[in-house]
Amino acid sequence: MNYKLLNFKVFGDARGKLVPIENNKNIPFEIKRLFYIYDTLPDEVRGCHAHKKCEQIVVAIDGSCQFLLDDGEKREKIWLNRPDVGLYIGKNIWNEMHQFSYGCKLMVLASEYYDEEEYIRKYDDFKKWISK
Ligand code: TYD
Repeated sequence: MNYKLLNFKVFGDARGKLVPIENNKNIPFEIKRLFYIYDTLPDEVRGCHAHKKCEQIVVAIDGSCQFLLDDGEKREKIWLNRPDVGLYIGKNIWNEMHQFSYGCKLMVLASEYYDEEEYIRKYDDFKKWISK
């Protein structure tokens, strides 16, 4: 399945920790967009879509949540719970976010500008799209 966990180098000292992210260096694309998700609640589910073009990296800057990833053939669940780990999600992967911890903050880096046209928001449409 077209996802991977990226372990970012952490620069830490007595003052705290710092993680740099650079286009095409420690991540595999150029960032066109960044958004963040916060004030989530444990019972809520987010995502539930796939992208035709956009690649993304999600970092749980604070707290945790569980990702469900589905390439149309298999499903995998991944906990995201470290600010020094990025979950790279390629295009054509159905993703859902579940089980947010209270106060969870997710930062998402995206390879494309926001374009609703490149979203697939229904699972049936996703199955049809990938079987083309
Ligand atoms: P939505 O795709 O429902 O969020 P999630 O997949 O995390 O559950 O997005 C929520 C709203 O925000 C929706 O109206 C679209 C808008 N939005 C933007 O305008 N720009 C963006 O970059 C993103 C990610 C969402």
